[in-house]
Parts: sequence; C-alpha cells; structure tokens
Amino acid sequence: MHRPATESWSTQIGVILAVTGSAVGLGNFLRFPGLAAKYDGGVFLIPYFVALLLLGLPLAWAEWSMGRYGGTRGYHSSPGIFRLIWKNRAAPYLGVLGLVVPVVIYMYYVFVESWCLGYAWYYLTGAMDLGRDPVAYQNFFTAYTGSEKDASIFSSFLGTPLVFLVICIALNFFLINRGLTRGIELFCLWAMPALALCAVLVLVRVLTLGTPDPSRPELNVLNGLGQMWNLDAGGKSVWAQLANGKMWMEAAGQIFFSLSVGFGVIITYASYMRRDDDIALSSTTAVAGNEFFEVSLGGMITIPAAFIFLGAAGTVGGTFALGFNTLPLVFEHMPLGRWVGFLWFFLLFLAAITSSLSMLQPAIAFLQEGLGLTRTRAVAVLCGVGTAGTLLVVWFSKNLTALDTLDFWVGTFCIYLLACVQTFLFGWVFGPQRGLEELDRGADMRLPRLFTFVIRYISPVYLLVVFVAWAVQDVGNRIAVFTEDPAVRWTMLFLVAVLALFLWWIRLAVKRWHAEEAAS
Ligand code: ALA
Repeated sequence: MHRPATESWSTQIGVILAVTGSAVGLGNFLRFPGLAAKYDGGVFLIPYFVALLLLGLPLAWAEWSMGRYGGTRGYHSSPGIFRLIWKNRAAPYLGVLGLVVPVVIYMYYVFVESWCLGYAWYYLTGAMDLGRDPVAYQNFFTAYTGSEKDASIFSSFLGTPLVFLVICIALNFFLINRGLTRGIELFCLWAMPALALCAVLVLVRVLTLGTPDPSRPELNVLNGLGQMWNLDAGGKSVWAQLANGKMWMEAAGQIFFSLSVGFGVIITYASYMRRDDDIALSSTTAVAGNEFFEVSLGGMITIPAAFIFLGAAGTVGGTFALGFNTLPLVFEHMPLGRWVGFLWFFLLFLAAITSSLSMLQPAIAFLQEGLGLTRTRAVAVLCGVGTAGTLLVVWFSKNLTALDTLDFWVGTFCIYLLACVQTFLFGWVFGPQRGLEELDRGADMRLPRLFTFVIRYISPVYLLVVFVAWAVQDVGNRIAVFTEDPAVRWTMLFLVAVLALFLWWIRLAVKRWHAEEAAS
C-alpha cells in the first residue's frame, strides 16, 4: 500500500512556523478572549488548561505521529492515512471529516478574514474615525458584514466588503497554488514573525496604559489583568462556576479550534515531514507557541484593554463582538489609537490567512493523491467549491446565520466527531506503542509515556462525557432553529451536498488506490 513520497517541508523552523501559523488565528485573538470574558476570566482557564493537557496535547501528538507515518508511505490526506492505518472498508470514508471540516471552515473563515483586512485598511486611511459613540461602531459592523439584511453586502459601501473578500480569496488560492514550500512555508516564515511583532507592539501599548481616567482609578491595567486571571473576577463562587457543564464544553471546543486539532490540518501538515525528522519537539513547540499567542497575547491584549476603557461590562460580547465592536472604541480612547487599530486588524488578518491557507491543503492533497489531479487543477476545483460556500455565507448574511450555522455544525460538532475518530484510531487501531515509536524516531525530546494511557482511556471518556452533556443540552435548540429559519435549512442542505461530493470523490479515490495496488 506504499506510494512514492512526494513533497516535504524544507526546514524544521519552516514547519514549526507553518503549523503554528495554522493554529494561531482568529480563535486566539477573537474567540478565546470572548470566551474568557464570558466566563469571568480566571475560572474559565481551569477547564481550558485541563482540556489542553487531556485532549489537545495528546491528540496533537497523535495527529503528528499518524500524519508522518502516512506521509512516509505516500499519503497526505485523512482518507488515505486512515485507510493505511485501519484495514477496514469504512476507514477512508471516515476520513471525509478530515477534508470537509477544514474546507467548510475555510468558507466562512475567509469572510471574517476579509473583515480584518477591511478594518485594517479603514484604520490606515482614517475612515474608522467614528467618534466615541459605541452605536456608531455597531452600525458600522452591521453594515459592513451585511448582518442587517441578507445579501446586502452586494450593494453596501459600493461593494467594498466584496473587494476585500475577493482579495482574500485570490491571495489564499495564489499562495496555495505556489505549493507547500514556496507558498505556505515561505509565507509563514515572514508572516509569523510579523504577526508576533504586531501583537507585542499592541500588548506593550495596552500594558503601559496605566490609569487613563484619574476620576476612575479602579479602571487600571492591573485590574484589567485581574479580569482575566483572578478566580473571583466575576464575584461569584468558584465552585459554583466550575459546576457549569457548558463552560467545560466550550473550553474543550476552544482547544480543538485553536490548536487546529481534530481539524484534519495537522495530520496533513505532519505528513510532509521526512522519515527521521523530529516530530516530538516540533509538535510540542507548535502547541506551546499557539498557547503563547492565545493566552499571553490574545487574552492579555483584549481583556485588559476593554476593561480599562469600558469597565467589566465592556469585556462581555459575542465571539466577534469584542474584536470588531468593542476594540475600535478602545482604540478611539487610546493615544495613537488609529495606528494601534491598524496594527491590531492587520495582525488579525495575518493570523487568519496563515490559518485559512492550512485549511485548503488537506483537500488539495486529497484531490492530487486520490483523483490524480495536478496541483493547479486541484486548486481550481477547490477554489470553485470553496467560493460557492463563501457566496452562500455572504448571501445568508442576516444575523450572520449561515456563518453561525456552519461554525456550529462543522466548527464545533464535526470537529468533535473527527477528534473522536482520531482518538479511536490512534489509541485502539494504530496503537500507542507504534505511535510512540513514530514519535520517538528522530525525536529531539522524550515525550511522557503517560501520554499513551491518557489517549487510550482518559481522552475518549472525556470526549464522550462532554459530547453527551452537550448534545443533551443543545440538540433541542438546534432542531428548533432548523425548523424556523429557511437560511439554516439552505445552509444545512449545502453542507450535506458538500459531504456527498467528498464521499463520492473518496469512492473514486479508493477504486484508484485499489487499481494502483493491484498493478504493483
Ligand atoms: N486554529 C485556527 C484558529 O485558531 C483555526 O483560528
């Protein structure tokens, strides 16, 4: 079942930056601070770090191990790698999640990416100077994203949001078409340091704000940091807060989303490692790098900044509200705010594009190895499918319905399913022993042996409990939304169509792989 190995990363630093680039994204700078603020900071960090240790890190090691194993045998996509690991007819079909999850997340992620680019541009040109009225920023956001009326961005701002969207789509496909090393690796090599520099500059600006309003001395940097780190930041009992099951679910979901684990991405990226390359230290570095960006930069910029100028109430908002509605108001109150605003949205854009690029690679790899397409053809096909999805998201823009629907069903639900499949495959089929051998070969660090026990027993139970608790609480709401809103139904229909398309392609790929094996 071996095929000749194809591409590989050119340097170790390149692969670490590419994987960290995939992980560090809007999840780190928008989703994490939003969740931490929602659950009063410090308490949220407990389920968050527990999920990191019991789910995120073990599963990241598992994906790296299975990914390189598959890659050195010529497979780079989940269907190919799962089929290699598990000699079961169902195995390649389970890999459909490893293609559909990243592609569908890309469809709406690129839309949010284009908002970041648009906002950066408006800051640069001074057009974001909307004064100090919070409503002005909310109205701007609503009009810009088309959340007032379906399809309204096709006419608003003389089409400007669409221009930024087209730029983002074109840039993604241009870079991905250049290939692994000349596109993804090269771009991440300069984008990641630039991203870190922008983030550190904004962080320094926030942490040196002191007490900007002497008449309200409690609104200072230290209390802002306390808002994120103190266990009693919300004034509620810690134990009562820890009893909140939904917080544990959202914390685990955030770990998957943020690390790009259970996403289909890491397994593909790891498949481009060479046989004796280190993967133990690289994977751990990428996870640590992501956590640095998320907790030390993302959280410590947004939460203190919003608190200092707007008080505790200002830190509460939806996933994107904090980033797009609240922070512009903060920049307006800040000396040099226009430039900080530009840096902030530009850094969000860089973070987003290094992630969205990674979401395209699994399907490109599959179309090449499964259907025999050239890279350019694979890119063209994926551009068609991806853009169709993005148009759907842009069309059903009222209340961002299509975006939220896909984010729930794919960005949360399917990620969970894929994480379950991968845990099962690694823990019970591939086997922790073989997995450890793979992780140890060429390793620059020794991973804790306890990890095999965790991934075999603890992670599956954890996943299952969280999943069941979540399903019990939420399925009723989801069914209600489905029956009430036609936009949700259209979006779900589209999702089913994408799933069917990829399943059909996997069927063709399996036939092709069988024929190749029979001939060799
Ligand atoms: N891991 C990426 C993020 O955090 C998808 O945004």
